[in-house]
Amino acid sequence: MNALLNELHAYHHDVAKNITQIKELLRRIRHEPDAGDDCSLLFKKLEALHGDAERHHHENEELIRRALLATEAPIHQRVKDIERDHQAFGRIAGQLKMLEDTTKEARVIADTIDDFIKKYYDHMDAEENIFFPAAAKWLSDAQWQDIKRQWR
Ligand SMILES: [Fe+2]
Repeated sequence: MNALLNELHAYHHDVAKNITQIKELLRRIRHEPDAGDDCSLLFKKLEALHGDAERHHHENEELIRRALLATEAPIHQRVKDIERDHQAFGRIAGQLKMLEDTTKEARVIADTIDDFIKKYYDHMDAEENIFFPAAAKWLSDAQWQDIKRQWR
Protein backbone atom coordinates (compact mmCIF):
# COMPACT_ATOMS: atom_id res chain seq x y z
CA MET A 1 0.00 0.00 0.00
CA ASN A 2 0.94 3.64 -0.46
CA ALA A 3 3.43 4.83 2.20
CA LEU A 4 1.33 7.83 3.24
CA LEU A 5 -1.78 5.69 3.70
CA ASN A 6 0.37 3.26 5.69
CA GLU A 7 1.38 6.09 7.96
CA LEU A 8 -2.29 7.01 8.55
CA HIS A 9 -3.10 3.36 9.25
CA ALA A 10 -0.24 3.09 11.75
CA TYR A 11 -1.51 6.20 13.51
CA HIS A 12 -5.00 4.67 13.77
CA HIS A 13 -3.47 1.54 15.22
CA ASP A 14 -1.73 3.58 17.95
CA VAL A 15 -4.92 5.52 18.68
CA ALA A 16 -6.87 2.26 19.00
CA LYS A 17 -4.36 1.03 21.58
CA ASN A 18 -4.67 4.28 23.47
CA ILE A 19 -8.46 4.03 23.38
CA THR A 20 -8.33 0.50 24.78
CA GLN A 21 -6.38 1.84 27.77
CA ILE A 22 -8.80 4.73 28.15
CA LYS A 23 -11.72 2.30 28.22
CA GLU A 24 -10.09 0.29 30.98
CA LEU A 25 -9.60 3.48 33.01
CA LEU A 26 -13.22 4.44 32.38
CA ARG A 27 -14.36 1.07 33.64
CA ARG A 28 -12.37 1.57 36.84
CA ILE A 29 -13.64 5.12 37.31
CA ARG A 30 -17.24 4.01 36.94
CA HIS A 31 -16.79 1.36 39.62
CA GLU A 32 -14.77 3.48 42.03
CA PRO A 33 -16.03 7.04 41.67
CA ASP A 34 -13.34 8.31 44.08
CA ALA A 35 -10.50 7.12 41.88
CA GLY A 36 -8.80 10.49 41.54
CA ASP A 37 -5.53 9.04 40.28
CA ASP A 38 -7.27 7.11 37.53
CA CYS A 39 -9.03 10.32 36.53
CA SER A 40 -5.84 12.32 36.10
CA LEU A 41 -4.23 9.44 34.19
CA LEU A 42 -7.34 9.36 32.01
CA PHE A 43 -7.03 13.04 31.12
CA LYS A 44 -3.37 12.54 30.36
CA LYS A 45 -4.24 9.81 27.89
CA LEU A 46 -7.01 11.89 26.40
CA GLU A 47 -4.53 14.65 25.68
CA ALA A 48 -2.96 12.40 23.06
CA LEU A 49 -6.31 12.42 21.26
CA HIS A 50 -6.28 16.16 20.85
CA GLY A 51 -2.62 17.10 20.60
CA ASP A 52 -0.50 18.22 17.67
CA ALA A 53 -0.12 14.70 16.26
CA GLU A 54 -3.89 14.36 16.06
CA ARG A 55 -4.26 17.75 14.36
CA HIS A 56 -1.56 16.93 11.84
CA HIS A 57 -3.14 13.54 11.18
CA HIS A 58 -6.44 15.20 10.34
CA GLU A 59 -4.74 17.80 8.17
CA ASN A 60 -2.95 15.06 6.24
CA GLU A 61 -6.21 13.21 5.73
CA GLU A 62 -7.83 16.39 4.48
CA LEU A 63 -5.08 16.77 1.86
CA ILE A 64 -5.97 13.34 0.54
CA ARG A 65 -9.69 13.92 0.80
CA ARG A 66 -9.55 17.13 -1.22
CA ALA A 67 -7.44 15.40 -3.85
CA LEU A 68 -10.00 12.62 -4.04
CA LEU A 69 -12.83 15.13 -4.52
CA ALA A 70 -10.93 16.51 -7.52
CA THR A 71 -10.96 13.12 -9.27
CA GLU A 72 -13.80 11.44 -11.10
CA ALA A 73 -14.28 9.04 -8.19
CA PRO A 74 -17.85 8.51 -6.96
CA ILE A 75 -17.81 10.07 -3.49
CA HIS A 76 -19.41 8.05 -0.72
CA GLN A 77 -21.47 10.00 1.83
CA ARG A 78 -19.19 8.77 4.62
CA VAL A 79 -16.24 10.39 2.82
CA LYS A 80 -18.16 13.66 2.57
CA ASP A 81 -18.83 13.46 6.32
CA ILE A 82 -15.16 13.14 7.25
CA GLU A 83 -14.47 16.86 7.17
CA ARG A 84 -17.40 17.48 9.50
CA ASP A 85 -16.13 14.67 11.78
CA HIS A 86 -12.73 16.28 12.00
CA GLN A 87 -14.28 19.60 12.99
CA ALA A 88 -16.51 17.86 15.53
CA PHE A 89 -13.54 16.09 17.14
CA GLY A 90 -11.83 19.42 17.59
CA ARG A 91 -14.94 20.72 19.37
CA ILE A 92 -15.29 17.62 21.56
CA ALA A 93 -11.61 17.87 22.49
CA GLY A 94 -12.29 21.38 23.75
CA GLN A 95 -15.29 20.14 25.76
CA LEU A 96 -13.19 17.39 27.33
CA LYS A 97 -10.59 19.92 28.34
CA MET A 98 -13.30 22.01 29.97
CA LEU A 99 -14.70 18.96 31.75
CA GLU A 100 -11.34 18.31 33.32
CA ASP A 101 -11.40 21.76 34.89
CA THR A 102 -15.04 22.00 35.88
CA THR A 103 -16.56 18.58 36.54
CA LYS A 104 -15.79 16.38 39.44
CA GLU A 105 -18.54 13.92 38.68
CA ALA A 106 -16.99 10.75 37.32
CA ARG A 107 -20.15 9.56 35.60
CA VAL A 108 -20.48 12.72 33.50
CA ILE A 109 -16.85 12.46 32.45
CA ALA A 110 -17.16 8.76 31.63
CA ASP A 111 -20.35 9.25 29.56
CA THR A 112 -18.84 12.07 27.53
CA ILE A 113 -15.68 10.10 26.80
CA ASP A 114 -17.65 6.96 25.95
CA ASP A 115 -19.60 8.94 23.39
CA PHE A 116 -16.39 10.39 21.95
CA ILE A 117 -14.83 6.92 21.65
CA LYS A 118 -17.86 5.55 19.81
CA LYS A 119 -17.73 8.39 17.30
CA TYR A 120 -13.99 8.01 16.92
CA TYR A 121 -14.19 4.28 16.17
CA ASP A 122 -16.94 4.85 13.67
CA HIS A 123 -14.85 7.57 12.02
CA MET A 124 -11.71 5.39 11.76
CA ASP A 125 -13.81 2.59 10.38
CA ALA A 126 -15.16 4.80 7.57
CA GLU A 127 -11.68 6.05 6.78
CA GLU A 128 -10.05 2.65 6.66
CA ASN A 129 -12.79 0.83 4.80
CA ILE A 130 -14.14 3.47 2.45
CA PHE A 131 -11.92 6.57 2.26
CA PHE A 132 -8.40 5.07 2.14
CA PRO A 133 -9.27 2.36 -0.41
CA ALA A 134 -10.92 4.98 -2.64
CA ALA A 135 -7.83 7.20 -2.40
CA ALA A 136 -5.57 4.25 -3.21
CA LYS A 137 -7.68 3.48 -6.24
CA TRP A 138 -8.24 6.97 -7.68
CA LEU A 139 -5.35 9.29 -6.85
CA SER A 140 -2.67 9.72 -9.49
CA ASP A 141 1.08 9.62 -8.80
CA ALA A 142 1.22 13.37 -9.40
CA GLN A 143 -1.49 13.91 -6.76
CA TRP A 144 0.37 11.75 -4.24
CA GLN A 145 3.56 13.71 -4.87
CA ASP A 146 1.70 16.94 -4.37
CA ILE A 147 0.22 15.62 -1.10
CA LYS A 148 3.64 14.48 0.05
CA ARG A 149 5.03 17.99 -0.38
CA GLN A 150 2.37 19.37 1.97
CA TRP A 151 2.43 16.42 4.41
CA ARG A 152 3.12 17.14 8.09
FE1 LIG B 1 -7.87 9.20 10.71
